[in-house]
Amino acid sequence: MKVIFDGDELAARAGERLLDVARRNGLPLEGTCNGDLACATCHVIVDADWFAKLPAAREEEEDMLDLVADARRTSRLACQIVLTPEFDKLSVSLP
Ligand code: FES
Repeated sequence: MKVIFDGDELAARAGERLLDVARRNGLPLEGTCNGDLACATCHVIVDADWFAKLPAAREEEEDMLDLVADARRTSRLACQIVLTPEFDKLSVSLP
């Protein structure tokens, strides 16, 4: 499967986090807390069509997104998005 970051298709595997795909490809998503919902340095903006298909963010993720200065309506944290086959070609951009 693939995910699309800023228009570039990147290889991804079901079961891995979107954050891990970004890291493997050298994208500037720090993910400082490695998924503990304590940093928000893994902030991505999800394509609007895809945003509606993702499982809703948990309250803890929403709380972190409230602290992100450039958050948008379709912002998510890449450490919280676990890829499954139905998310093939998930499209996101970096803020
Ligand atoms: S890696 Fe820290 S909140 Fe996602």
